Amino acid sequence: MTVTVRAPAKFNLQLSVGEPRTDGYHPLGTVYQAIGLYDDVTASPAQMWSVETTADEHIDLAQVPTGDDNIAVRAAKMLLALHRDERAVHLHIHKGIPIAGGLAGGSADAAAALVAVDRLFDLGTSDDEMLALAAELGSDVPFSLVGGTAAGSGRGEIVEPVTDNGSWWWVVVGNDTGLSTPWVYGEFDRMHRYASGAADPAAPALDGDLLDALADGEPADLAVCLSNDLMDPALAARPDLRATLADAERSSAMATLLSGSGPTMMLLAGSADHAREIAGFMTGSGHTRVWVATAPVAGAHVVTYA
Ligand code: C5P
Repeated sequence: MTVTVRAPAKFNLQLSVGEPRTDGYHPLGTVYQAIGLYDDVTASPAQMWSVETTADEHIDLAQVPTGDDNIAVRAAKMLLALHRDERAVHLHIHKGIPIAGGLAGGSADAAAALVAVDRLFDLGTSDDEMLALAAELGSDVPFSLVGGTAAGSGRGEIVEPVTDNGSWWWVVVGNDTGLSTPWVYGEFDRMHRYASGAADPAAPALDGDLLDALADGEPADLAVCLSNDLMDPALAARPDLRATLADAERSSAMATLLSGSGPTMMLLAGSADHAREIAGFMTGSGHTRVWVATAPVAGAHVVTYA
């Protein structure tokens, strides 16, 4: 028997970052949106643990670990340990989400592995247990389970769905060279002269105008509310991203935002046709990693059970 679970990429419509905590993490006020680029994780019973990776065109697998340090393997092992179950699993990860792009591809794999192994062995893990394991695996993993559009607080692991009546279209412009999330947060600290962690730093607030724009579903309103505190640190580290930004500004996109900690850029379109036109412009400007994606989409969900 095998189970295949599909999990989406995400980006942050708002990513407000506070002063670092004593554990090094930053308090976030964020709004996540799941977008229609996916990784598929297929789990099957095995004698020994193993993982195999494949990918869509233009996705470089070189940085994806194929041992116990792969986050999907860690997720599957943590879930089985919770149930004191000593069985082993073979995982096949097919990546459609660009790697190290700020699109939470690793988090998607972890969320998909949790759901896949739970269904494969009929473990009956509760939602609360799944969310707790997800939070332990990474700040973005709970959102990868939940999907849709959601507010994130704490270090990002506390997720609460928000009203989103839009049917959004994004053009996703990837980059040949990834960016390290801890490094970008470190650059954020250097820019703000945050030397060490604070005991109880203030949590950034959510943007009420952004929440209204999501409830109204109007691209022109959303376009003026997008924000990402990691954009300046990422641009400081990677001046080449300014060229992407300049191309995006010359396109007819309604707004451009860095995805998470980057380097992927998200360009807002008003319709599917508009998104295809922008994608054509970006491709014509020399960008090879360009995708069109709709949002919001579902979190990790079973697609094949055989
Ligand atoms: O939680 P996760 O393992 O995905 O985070 C990766 C890294 O990103 C952390 O080690 C930390 O450096 C940084 N991070 C942060 N504050 C957050 C989330 C992540 O500093 N809220």
